[in-house]
Amino acid sequence: MKYFFETYGCQMNTAESAALTLAAKERGWEQTDNADIADLILLNTCSVRETAEQRVRGRLAHYAALKKKREKASREAEHEGGEAQAPLFTLVMAGCMAERLGEKLTQEFPAVDYVMGTSARSRFPLILEAVEKAREQGNAAPEPLVETDEKPEFAFSSLHLEEQGEQTPFRSFVPIMHGCNHFCSYCIVPYVRGREISRSPESILEEIRLVGERGVREVTLLGQNVNSYLWKGSAGKKDLDFPGLLELVGSSLSSQNLHSPRNSPDGGKGVRWVRFLSSHPKDLSHEAIRVMAKYPVFCHHIHLCVQHGSDRILKAMNRQYTRSQYLDLVSRLRAAVPDLSLSTDILVGFPGETEKDFETILTLMDEVKFQYSYMYHYNPREGTPAYRLPDRISEEVKRQRLARVIALQKEHTAQLLKSRIGANVTALIEGISRKNADELIGRTERDEMVVVPGGTESIGCFANLTLSTLRGNTFRAPALQKLM
Ligand code: SF4
Ligand code: F3S
Repeated sequence: MKYFFETYGCQMNTAESAALTLAAKERGWEQTDNADIADLILLNTCSVRETAEQRVRGRLAHYAALKKKREKASREAEHEGGEAQAPLFTLVMAGCMAERLGEKLTQEFPAVDYVMGTSARSRFPLILEAVEKAREQGNAAPEPLVETDEKPEFAFSSLHLEEQGEQTPFRSFVPIMHGCNHFCSYCIVPYVRGREISRSPESILEEIRLVGERGVREVTLLGQNVNSYLWKGSAGKKDLDFPGLLELVGSSLSSQNLHSPRNSPDGGKGVRWVRFLSSHPKDLSHEAIRVMAKYPVFCHHIHLCVQHGSDRILKAMNRQYTRSQYLDLVSRLRAAVPDLSLSTDILVGFPGETEKDFETILTLMDEVKFQYSYMYHYNPREGTPAYRLPDRISEEVKRQRLARVIALQKEHTAQLLKSRIGANVTALIEGISRKNADELIGRTERDEMVVVPGGTESIGCFANLTLSTLRGNTFRAPALQKLM
C-alpha cells in the first residue's frame, strides 16, 4: 500500500505531516512520489489566506479528475475480461482547511473520502485500517468511519526525522504546544487549531534525546505561541512555564555536552543547538530572555512577529502590545544577547491603515533593522473579527505599500549581511551545495547561509569558519575547521 502527501502552510503542518507519515509507515505503508500509483492521497492544508485555500481547491479538482480517469481505466480493464484495477485511491483532506470547512468539503468535492481536521488527527490510523480492509475485499471505496461525539484527545507527534519535508536530517521540529488563545483580529488560526494545549516536559525532553541519537544536531521547539507554554504539574509538582521549559532543555543539553566536549571523539552526536518558534511579543518574558542568554545551546536568533508599527493598528489587530513595548523588548533582548539577529512578520494594508500609519512600519523597521521579514498584505478572512471592519484598503495601495516594505527590508538585509563580512562563526553543515558538488552549505546560529569547500564527512557536523565574501544573501568561507 502506497501513500502520497501534499503539505501546505506553516511548520506546524510540516511537523504533523511527519507524524502522519510515521503512523502510515508503522502499518507497513510505503511512501511514493508519484500520486498516479498511490492508494491514499492526503492533502494537509492551510487556511491562513484565501489564496491558500484556492490552491488546495485547484489540487482537489485535479485529484477528482484523476479519480475519474482511474475509474474509467478500471472499468475498461474489467470490460476486457481482465481484473478490475480496483481499488483506485482514497482521498483524505487534513489540516486547517479540513477543520474549518468540515464535511462541507465532501459536498463541494464528492471525490474526498475523509475529512480529518486538526483536532481529529489521531483518527488517521482508523482511516488507514478502513482503506486496508476495503482493498482486501476488493472495494473501491472504504467504509465511512463511525462518527463519535467525543473529540479525540490531541496527540503530539512522536519521533519523526527524515519525514520532515524540507528539513535536513540534522534539523528537526519538536512540537511543544498546540493551538492559540490570542485571537488577533485578522487571524484564523485559533478557530482552526483550537485553544492552547501544552505537551509534557518529559515527552519533549525524550523526543530531543531520541532525535539526537538519530543524528539531529539542531531542534526547533514549535508552537503557535511558544511563550504561553504551560504544563500543569500533577499533585505535588509545580507548574512549568516557558522559561522553566527552556531552563530544563538548556540544563539537560548543557550537561550532556559537558560529557561530550566539542573535540572529543564522541562529540559528534546529540542536539547542540535549540531554537524556538513562534514568539508573541506580549508573552516573551524577562525570565525567558535570561535563560536564553544563559545557555549556549540557544541560538542567537529570534523570530519576533511585530506585524505593524502603529499603536492604533496594533490595537485594531488585537496584538496587545504597543510599539514602544515592542521596541523595549528588542532592547532587552539585545542587551542580554548582543549579537542577536532578529526576524519578523509584517502585515501591511490592514483596514483603516492611513499613509501615516503605514509609515510607522518603515520607521520601526529603521529602528530595529530586522535581518529578514515575512511581509504580506492584508487579505480579509471570513470568520475573523477583522473581516467585518470598514475602510478596506484598495488592492493597488496594498501592493504599493508592500513593495515599499520589501524594498526597505532588502536594504536592511544587505547592510546587515555586509557588516558581517570577516566574522568568525560556527555553522552547522547541512549538505552539499546545489551549485557545486565540491562545496558544502551550512547555516549559522544567526540563521545565515554559508557555502564552504569541503567533503561529505563534514555533513552533520559543526564547523568554525570565517565569512569572507557575500553573493546575494549567501556568504562564502575559504575553509572550514570541523568541530564535532
Ligand atoms: Fe494568530 Fe495571533 Fe495566535 Fe499568532 S498569536 S496564531 S497571529 S491569533
Ligand atoms: Fe496555515 Fe493552519 Fe499553519 S492556517 S499557517 S497551517 S496553523
